[in-house]
Amino acid sequence: MENNRPNWTSRVTFILAAVGSAVGLGNIWRFPYIMGQNGGAIFLLVYLSLILTICFIPLFAELAVGKITKKECIGAYESVNPKFKFLGFLNPFTGVLISSFYFIVGGWILNYIYLSLSNTKIDDFGNYFSLFTQSSIPSCGFTLIFLLICIIFTARGIKKGIEFANNVLMPLFALILAGLIIFSLSLPNAHLGLEYMFKPDFSKVNAHMFLAALGQALFTLSIGMGALLTYGSYIKEDKSITKSTYMIIFSDTLFALMAGIMIFPAIFSFGLEPNSGAGLVFVTLPYIFSNIPHGSIVSAAFFILLLAAAVTSGISIIEVPVASMTERFKISRKKACFILFWIISAIAIPASLSFGVLDNVKIIGKTIFDFLDFATSNVLMPLNALFLCIIAGWFLKIRGEQFISNRFLAKLFDIGLKYIVPLILVSLLYIGLK
Ligand code: TRP
Repeated sequence: MENNRPNWTSRVTFILAAVGSAVGLGNIWRFPYIMGQNGGAIFLLVYLSLILTICFIPLFAELAVGKITKKECIGAYESVNPKFKFLGFLNPFTGVLISSFYFIVGGWILNYIYLSLSNTKIDDFGNYFSLFTQSSIPSCGFTLIFLLICIIFTARGIKKGIEFANNVLMPLFALILAGLIIFSLSLPNAHLGLEYMFKPDFSKVNAHMFLAALGQALFTLSIGMGALLTYGSYIKEDKSITKSTYMIIFSDTLFALMAGIMIFPAIFSFGLEPNSGAGLVFVTLPYIFSNIPHGSIVSAAFFILLLAAAVTSGISIIEVPVASMTERFKISRKKACFILFWIISAIAIPASLSFGVLDNVKIIGKTIFDFLDFATSNVLMPLNALFLCIIAGWFLKIRGEQFISNRFLAKLFDIGLKYIVPLILVSLLYIGLK
């Protein structure tokens, strides 16, 4: 079976796929709204510091564990020590939970593409968004279509689709983002948005903000769910993964910053609230689009490209349970995808309905959708990242000197991987669960 494992055609394909996994809804949808809920500039500062000092360590470690063990998550953990099998299993489990809410947002994008193409005129986008998410059949229907798109890509083997999406669509997407940034900055009072983003108010620092920033950093870099481990396990040749790590971090941060600079000036210009939550992008952007010349074409292009970014990420989420199912249970890729479709639907549909008919169903005071987001970003992903760092640092003994030429930095990496990152993850988990 081992010989039948898929491999990347080249290192470039691998980097593209990993960047494709990282850049997605986390950058465009989640980053601005989490930042809006957590005080703006000060959140950005904490977030960037975490990315630059800490997050590259688990990111690198995850790729390395995959590359060294050449196995999907459960097998990778098991090969280090059979007792770790259960910890490995947490990865595909987290993947199923993440996909269940990720695909709902993917469904929203599909709806906005439909809206742009059909040229529907809407007066109040805030109201429209609430009504749409509360609707049962359209929102569940679009969620299932998005899930189906990702599942079909995954079932058919993903190389070509991902390569195309990243080579062509991502640069195009960056171009549209740049255009929208220029428009957004030219709006009256745009500077208020920039101030909100870049002028930190240190009095707003609190522990929960750190947790939110770390959750967002892990989420946007696809750390803590085995996606990078699985992608890393498909690396064939004995090439370094250092450059890939930097590429992933750089592109991902760039897209997130661009999303922020596009959205916040517009929010302040239109007199909207930055802390309105998950609907932020879906209310503000359509506002912008309805105010610019040829807005519906730009809108369609924007959401179609966002869809491409979301699909490459969605695929990487599904790939984790698919890899585990095919390699461990020896079922075909197609069958694994078929089974997953039903499992994910069974969670995604109630989560989607939790905006409407099921909004009174609460788990620890949260709706099903919010609970899935919280449980994965703030609990399961930090937990998986913690186990991964321990396995990489203490058991597989991955060391900085293997890939960093500067001895001091290499030593720092070792201390980070073995002590600092695990300690931070444990404290944040403690704060999150308190
Ligand atoms: N990083 C992706 C985004 O920003 C989402 C994603 C893909 C992900 N694969 C993941 C999140 C694995 C966590 C774990 O949209």
